[in-house]
Amino acid sequence: MSPTSSSRRRVLVSIGTRPEAIKLAPVVRALAARPEFEVLTVATAQHRELLDQILAFFELRPDLDLDLMRAGQGLAELTARMTAALDRVLSDTSPDLVLAQGDTTTVFVTALCCFYRGIPFGHVEAGLRTGRRRSPFPEEMNRVLTGRLADLHFAPTARAAANLLAEGLPEAAVLVTGNTVIDALRWTVPRVDASPFTAHDGRRSLLVTTHRRESFGPPLLSICHALADLAARGDVEILYPVHPNPKVRETVRHHLGDHPRVRLVEPLGYPEFVAAMTAAHLVLTDSGGVQEEAPSLGKPVLVLRDDTERPEGIEAGTARLVGTDRAGIVAAATALLDDDDAYAAMARRANPYGDGHAAERIAERVATHLACRPAP
Ligand code: UD1
Ligand code: UDP
Repeated sequence: MSPTSSSRRRVLVSIGTRPEAIKLAPVVRALAARPEFEVLTVATAQHRELLDQILAFFELRPDLDLDLMRAGQGLAELTARMTAALDRVLSDTSPDLVLAQGDTTTVFVTALCCFYRGIPFGHVEAGLRTGRRRSPFPEEMNRVLTGRLADLHFAPTARAAANLLAEGLPEAAVLVTGNTVIDALRWTVPRVDASPFTAHDGRRSLLVTTHRRESFGPPLLSICHALADLAARGDVEILYPVHPNPKVRETVRHHLGDHPRVRLVEPLGYPEFVAAMTAAHLVLTDSGGVQEEAPSLGKPVLVLRDDTERPEGIEAGTARLVGTDRAGIVAAATALLDDDDAYAAMARRANPYGDGHAAERIAERVATHLACRPAP
């Protein structure tokens, strides 16, 4: 017997930025495939263009859109506006359980608002830690605080689960699921065409992204200088989809705008970005999601940060932490560009972040959690 609409349990999924849309699209799909759930989605729209681009690709149409993004938004102001707006959503929709993903302001505020109202909250991609309060900033603290507030913790890896247990969380509340980004990637790869992103005249393509707040200013400048040094070799082409944050744009455009072998482009749609990763020889990034995707595609990653909450790729040997120092980035990239054996050792396929079935595990665990709680 299928559940009637009144007996279905309402699950609200809160989505704020580009990576959350990518990583929650498979979860929304897995929840919607089960008759016992009524799934509602709310876009805080902490991102506007980046979010809309991704929602369209995954055919996700949010039931509610808070349209919160403002140009150059400050953290405190965004947090304050989001808290008020999300609390109204919780009051209006009375969900049985709420899910959010990752480490953004949207995740922390959603968890906090659920805590205030006593609504169960499940954290997707729980347990990642660098152990340094301000790196990445503010994401490390968003994760720690969300971990204290959440009722269910969906850890992408065994290490992430171990981090949560070490903080004293009950074992029954923690489930290792794999990362849903691998679900999204596997769904997308067969749908992409890498040929428009192939480098010309035998050159090799370096794909670059940057957006971290702790890198604004001198570190980002140093990354730009390193990229100009690499482009000057003549045997590489750099493809750099530039994040819309004005603090990123101004620096990158000013220092790399005129270089003949550096292509600064608008952020790519998800299938285009996956195609660009497939065509890339090397990926240089400070992105969390890209660090997780590249190993599945067998692409070496140089991580433009001083530390990472994703050590699994480093341990698998497909990623290397190179920091933001100009000489360090150039040396690490040169070693891979000039030494085929060193390159081959890193360019191996590895799947430390999941098997592509994380979303189903999350939906199943949400079902058991709600089955144990009487409908209000
Ligand atoms: C946010 C998250 C970060 C995540 C990243 C993914 C926080 C504190 N930061 O960083 O964890 O890794 O998203 O990309 O939650 N902007 C646009 N259009 C867009 C998106 C952003 O113009 O579609 C510009 C706006 O000027 C905005 C600024 O970028 O004010 C910053 O956006 P915000 O969401 O505050 O931070 P991100 O740096 O994108
Ligand atoms: N991505 C994209 N277009 C781009 C750059 C990145 O679709 O131009 C995707 C990428 O494949 C990954 C996600 O965006 O899944 C990462 O987002 P971002 O780097 O903004 O955030 P983070 O993962 O660091 O939180």
